Amino acid sequence: YRQCVLFKILLYYLYVANDLYDYYKYHPMAEITNWMAQLTKDHPDIVTVVSYGQTYEKRPISLLKIGLNTGEKKKAIWMDCGIHAREWIAPAFCQYFVNQILQTYKTDPKMEEMMKNMDFYVTPVLNMDGYIYSWQDNSTRLWRKNRSPGPSGCNCSGTDLNRNFNANWGTVGVSFDCCSNTFCGSKAVSEPEAQAVTDFVGRQKDEFLCFLTIHSYSQLILLPYGHPNFTASNYDELMKVGLAAAEEIRKVHGTSYTVGTSPDVLYPNSGSSRDWARLQGIPFSYTFELRDNGTFGFELPEDQIQPTCEEAYRGALYIISYVHDKTFNGAAAAAAATLWTLLLAVGVTTSTTLV
Ligand SMILES: *[C@@H]1O[C@H](CO)[C@@H](O)[C@H](O)[C@H]1NC(C)=O
Ligand SMILES: *[C@@H]1O[C@H](CO)[C@@H](O)[C@H](O)[C@H]1NC(C)=O
Ligand SMILES: *[C@@H]1O[C@H](CO)[C@@H](O)[C@H](O)[C@H]1NC(C)=O
Ligand SMILES: *[C@@H]1O[C@H](CO)[C@@H](O)[C@H](O)[C@H]1NC(C)=O
Ligand SMILES: [Zn+2]
Repeated sequence: YRQCVLFKILLYYLYVANDLYDYYKYHPMAEITNWMAQLTKDHPDIVTVVSYGQTYEKRPISLLKIGLNTGEKKKAIWMDCGIHAREWIAPAFCQYFVNQILQTYKTDPKMEEMMKNMDFYVTPVLNMDGYIYSWQDNSTRLWRKNRSPGPSGCNCSGTDLNRNFNANWGTVGVSFDCCSNTFCGSKAVSEPEAQAVTDFVGRQKDEFLCFLTIHSYSQLILLPYGHPNFTASNYDELMKVGLAAAEEIRKVHGTSYTVGTSPDVLYPNSGSSRDWARLQGIPFSYTFELRDNGTFGFELPEDQIQPTCEEAYRGALYIISYVHDKTFNGAAAAAAATLWTLLLAVGVTTSTTLV
């Protein structure tokens, strides 16, 4: 009996002490799903799992909703990872990000304030079917698309979900060949995974201040639009905030990230979720392309998970804090700036009289 009790205590620690989850390894889908369920038990007051659609293979697409319940209507932050199956560092980053914000909000007043004003909606693996397929064996490790069958007559499966959104769909940087890695689908939002995001975010698009979609690799922060003939109305501010985020990233381990629109720094494309989100009116929409810049590519070694996540976290946090402060502290920030100007003026006067 005593052994049984001890065993139960041990199990309790194994499950409750979420610290035991290894954030610096790649996890297969089943482990990520268990981890999500465990978070709701460890943090019942602020974490819920929301299923908002089904993959082609009928798996529930789930996100973690994280935020303090204030009884007020809140703003929101979107983050999704793993829209491309082989980019394993992306789901690892979403898990790290969630763990970080849950670890910090109790001691960091800024994070607590953000959790009061905003809900974080984080999808650790959007393309679950593709992710599971990429874990199958070596020959499927570099799978990118989802797993829906091609149109009739075509022998290949999979649609590139990041070419399937309703944003200049099918115009540039796509293929209509179903065997291509950039096959954009038979029509805009033909794929259930793209439909799920479109419905969930579209229903409450006015609440979302920011839309972050995480990929690898190339060390880039991309802003709308992927189509070379369209420029976001807030391009200058998107650039300014993106460059500042890249600077935050550089400070952590010296890694350089390039900032710009897809056509300017990578290649033109259409039908991306980032562009769709911006077209919905979500002002700050970015794609992160995490490490590396080509040495290991999609097969980033596990010993780079920690530094990759640490630096990218700083970049994401910069953007999130910026959109938060712009929305909630606009007046306070302006007042502080005025006060600062006054103090400076006094300072100038004082120093001139002193010399
Ligand atoms: C699979 O790939 C890994 C790493 O590239 C390699 O070590 C292993 O031998 C491969 N396994 C098979 C069965 O090819
Ligand atoms: C279609 O796929 C099957 C099975 O993978 C393969 O044997 C066949 O050669 C393919 N046909 C064409 C036209 O590519
Ligand atoms: C962009 O506009 C130019 C000039 O109108 C046109 O020639 C070009 O085809 C357009 N590019 C795309 C990708 O549609
Ligand atoms: C790749 O990234 C490393 C680390 O940031 C950097 O030192 C190197 O110059 C980069 N290489 C290229 C080709 O951009
Ligand atoms: Zn990608």
